[in-house]
Amino acid sequence: MSSSSTLPYRTAVVTGASSGIGHATVEKLAAAGVEVHAIARRADRLKELSRRTGCIAHAIDVTNLESCRRALDGLEVDVLVNNAGVSHNDRLYDFPVEKIDQIIDLNLRAVLHLTRFVLPGMMARNNGHVVIVSSMAGHYPMLGSAPYSATKAAVSQFLDVMRLDTNGSRIRWTEIMPGRVATEVFEIAMGGDRKAAQEKFLDGKDPLQAGDLADMIMFALSAPAHVNISRIDAYPTRQASGGFVYAG
Ligand SMILES: NC(=O)c1ccc[n+]([C@@H]2O[C@H](COP(=O)([O-])OP(=O)(O)OC[C@H]3O[C@@H](n4cnc5c(N)ncnc54)[C@H](OP(=O)(O)O)[C@@H]3O)[C@@H](O)[C@H]2O)c1
Repeated sequence: MSSSSTLPYRTAVVTGASSGIGHATVEKLAAAGVEVHAIARRADRLKELSRRTGCIAHAIDVTNLESCRRALDGLEVDVLVNNAGVSHNDRLYDFPVEKIDQIIDLNLRAVLHLTRFVLPGMMARNNGHVVIVSSMAGHYPMLGSAPYSATKAAVSQFLDVMRLDTNGSRIRWTEIMPGRVATEVFEIAMGGDRKAAQEKFLDGKDPLQAGDLADMIMFALSAPAHVNISRIDAYPTRQASGGFVYAG
């Protein structure tokens, strides 16, 4: 453990670090004295984040497993925050075909492979913490979100299985399951139309902020070693979801 880290971990990897929840998480981890490896595609944003926080920037596509391997090879990763994600909203019969693979590759496939990549080292050192930012959409039906919801439900189940797979070790697994958070995810889902995204998803909704989610991640990471915060389900106060949709 680093003498300067206030967490029981030395080295962290955060995906989706160039904006939103990932960006805020890098800031808080770096402030806690952790060596942070920040992954996203936009090099300019990572450079600025690195300048401010001292994080190590890796401007790569996390769905490119070879790039991830090259970036992380030789690191003793204690914390992996699988946060990068993409969304798109359309009923499946109208869904852009190429977006289905994009969502699965980023939200699910990359998460499994990156975890598989760092896990042997965590097992060998008997120390580690894997966080996945899922979504309430993986737990409750949300119109027009079939591919996104399917990936988020899958990572939730993945975490439940991983707690069993590594039972007896000191590796912890945390699902962060947010409702609406004010980030760029909506703008990207609406093809870059910031104004429309703002009006449709955020205005008057009093959403969570990225820093709120970063605080929840830090809470889970800083719990005593015998405590695994399995799942944090966090909504804006003005948002709620029910468990039953009757269509037809
Ligand atoms: N905002 C919400 O209301 C909400 C609610 C529930 C769950 N979530 C989940 O929260 C997570 C974080 O999203 P956010 O809300 O913070 O959105 P965001 O601001 O759009 O951040 C997404 C991040 O993912 C990165 N990314 C996208 N594709 C990538 C790729 N192929 N390789 C590497 N990085 C990639 C983006 O950076 P680059 O473009 O630079 O690569 C960006 O840093 C996602 O998993 C999302 O599903 C969000």
